[in-house]
This record gives sequence, structure tokens and C-alpha cells, in this order.
Amino acid sequence: MTQPLLELAGIAKSFGPIDVLHDICLEVHRGEVLCLLGDNGAGKSTLIKILSGVHKPTSGTVAMDGRPVAFDSPRDAAAHGIATVHQFGGTFPLMSIGRSFFVGAELTRRWGPFTIFDRRRANEIAVRETRQLGITRIDDGNRLVGGLSGGERQALAIARAVHFGASVLILDEPTAALGVKEAAHVLRIILQARRKGIAVILITHNVVHALTVGDHFAVLIKGAKAADFRRGEKSREEITDLMAGGEHMAALEAEIESTMAVHDDPQPSVDA
Ligand SMILES: Nc1ncnc2c1ncn2[C@@H]1O[C@H](COP(=O)(O)OP(=O)(O)O)[C@@H](O)[C@H]1O
Ligand SMILES: [Mg+2]
Repeated sequence: MTQPLLELAGIAKSFGPIDVLHDICLEVHRGEVLCLLGDNGAGKSTLIKILSGVHKPTSGTVAMDGRPVAFDSPRDAAAHGIATVHQFGGTFPLMSIGRSFFVGAELTRRWGPFTIFDRRRANEIAVRETRQLGITRIDDGNRLVGGLSGGERQALAIARAVHFGASVLILDEPTAALGVKEAAHVLRIILQARRKGIAVILITHNVVHALTVGDHFAVLIKGAKAADFRRGEKSREEITDLMAGGEHMAALEAEIESTMAVHDDPQPSVDA
């Protein structure tokens, strides 16, 4: 096995008297999708906030390429190549596509080709990079982000991370609010990022989505790592059990999916 890109050792996090994470050890590799699974309140977001520079661990270490790192801020984590896409794409509804692609001018100055904002070029690049991920409906960088679908916003945010050279892409529930087809598209884009050698950390509640793209899986239960395994080592049922407690959950999930499929594929309307 190659040296991990990111290595967490003994990470713990407490907020005052509340212990949220205990002794988390985890390796993240280039060109792999790590699925971080666990029920609500398990500590998934807290863990990725440590990796994205929002929180500092109470104890434990994070190493990148074998060297210890401590992120002072989200900007600092981004400068280390860690891009985090928050739920709903973390974008700004009233901003144009081109403008939102280049928001956070510090990134543009550090990695981008410009020192001043160039709207025409920004639009061109945002549209091109997003289209490269297969989102062909984005054709005008002047359009507002608010007019995009949830999946298109996720794609825009992922395209942005790829464009700015992220080596780690963290996605917090990117498919949670999406229909079946849109979710499938976002999963395809995740695989494209993986093929570019990016290490993807995917947080999801959806076992099917995790199994579709995951190379490596870690399950958090009450702030501790309850399982760590690779693709093929556990069945969907075992993973569902680990996440929330069994068949019950799997059956409910299947029911929800079939309901969503019906909504995603409306019957052609019959004109009277
Ligand atoms: N800033 C905070 N202060 C106190 N408790 C927090 C804070 N952030 C998260 N927690 C607690 O930590 C636990 C894990 O939260 P979180 O990491 O958001 O879980 P998940 O993302 O897995 O749903 C929850 O019980 C939550 O209430
Ligand atoms: Mg969360």
C-alpha cells in the first residue's frame, strides 16, 4: 500500500464537557473514495470540520504525505489542497455561475491565472470545467447559481475543487437532497474526480450510493470508529446494520428509493 495522503491518528474532539470524537485513526489514499458512514450525531461533520480547518482536534494528529499538519483556518486547509463541498453545494444563490466559481479570491490569486477578476474569462472557465463533468445544461456563466438544480450545484462545486487543484475533496451528503437521476450523475462526477487521482471523502446516509462509488468505508458510531473495511469485504446488509440497525432500515430505504424513482420519472402527460 502506498503512503496515505492523509493520516489521522488518535483524533479526539470535545466541546467543553461533551466528547464528540474518540481516538479516530483513519487513512485516506489518492485516487480512492472513502465513504464516511454513520447515523445522525455520530460525529461525521465534526470529523470533516477538523480536516477542513473549521475545528482543531482536542488531541491527536493529522499528517499529510507523512508530515504533520495543523490547519489554522478553512483557508489554510484549502491552501493545503483540501476542498470541502458542504451540503447543497455550498454556493451562493444570488451569485452568477462564473462569479461563484471564483469566489474566495485568495484561491484565485494563489492558484488561478488572474490577479483581478475577469468576468468573461471566469464565465468561460466555469462553464467549460462544469461541462467537462458532463453538465451540459450549464452554458452561460452569467446565470445565477440559484437557478441551478441541486445536482448542478454539486457539479459546479466539484468542478471548482478540481479546477483549483484540490488533492482531497470532501463532500458532506452531496446526494441527500437529490432525485435518483441527479444523484447518479453526482456519483459519476465523484468517480471522475477519483480517476484524476483525487482522494474523495464522501459522507452519506445512503448505503447504495456508498457501495456504488466507495473503495474504502469507515463507520462512526457515537464518535468512535466502529468499522473500517474495503470494498467487497461487507455486504450491503452488514453495512446497513452497522449504520443503523438492520433489515428494517434496508427495507425502508428500498421503499423510499422506489417512491423517489416514481417521482423522478413522471409518466408522459396525456393531453385531453
Ligand atoms: N460546536 C458544537 N458544540 C457542542 N456539541 C457539538 C458541536 N458540534 C457538534 N456537536 C455535537 O457532536 C455530535 C456529533 O455531531 P456531528 O458531527 O454534526 O454529527 P453527524 O455529522 O454525524 O450527524 C452531536 O451530538 C452534536 O450535537
Ligand atoms: Mg453532519
